[in-house]
Amino acid sequence: MNIRIFNDKEELYREAANFFIDHVKENPNAILGLATGATPIPLYQNLILDHKENKTDYSKVKSFNLDEYIGLPKDHKETYYNFMNENLFKYINIKETYVPNGDPNKKEQSCLEYENLISNNQIEIQLLGLGANGHIGFNEPLTPFDSKTHIVTLANKTREDNARFFNSLDEVPKEAITMGIASIMKAKTLILLAVGENKADAIYEMIYGKVSTECPASILQTHSDCYVFIDRAAASKINK
Ligand code: GLP
Repeated sequence: MNIRIFNDKEELYREAANFFIDHVKENPNAILGLATGATPIPLYQNLILDHKENKTDYSKVKSFNLDEYIGLPKDHKETYYNFMNENLFKYINIKETYVPNGDPNKKEQSCLEYENLISNNQIEIQLLGLGANGHIGFNEPLTPFDSKTHIVTLANKTREDNARFFNSLDEVPKEAITMGIASIMKAKTLILLAVGENKADAIYEMIYGKVSTECPASILQTHSDCYVFIDRAAASKINK
């Protein structure tokens, strides 16, 4: 793991954005893995700004998102499909984007289709956030490391953490579709971002804990090209 701790969050986000921008400039047909949550938003803002100012071209880039809630109405602002459009896609010239299908009537089919898609499209750089309980994508604690795209029952902790985006906890879906841990680990390069003190325990476990399904992110210790960008608060439990 290549761990970088930033005093300045703006610098963290600029550098993380440059990671993607440099790759896209060198590889116009890049295949990117993207993530949702509050953490990547400033990274996406940097990509948008760069696209506006420097005209970085995404017209041949493909993107694959990690996960999606099951059962939210299509026009709900918190579907990850809408999140990606609102926070990134509509501001850059990307044409081919994929987010797993959250249709509650097609769960099994959607998992197979998405896994098939990512098997046929080698993700080059996969962006990851981190759940406070160590989840990556929506792979909650105890998810097998060999899991492929699957349906998950969200942990109470995750639903409580994500309730801030909804009107009430009741509104937060109970299920999601997510790339599995094995699907994520197939990406050539991983970059995980975490900011804030509520991620400090998960960061500690991810870096120093035993590689165990109890902390899904601990598997990243075994990836051959994994970058971790964190701020001081997220790094507060590690002795550096
Ligand atoms: C969400 C997403 C994850 C994300 C994580 C952290 O539930 N499914 O992909 O990384 O939780 O979110 P945030 O960045 O808002 O803390």
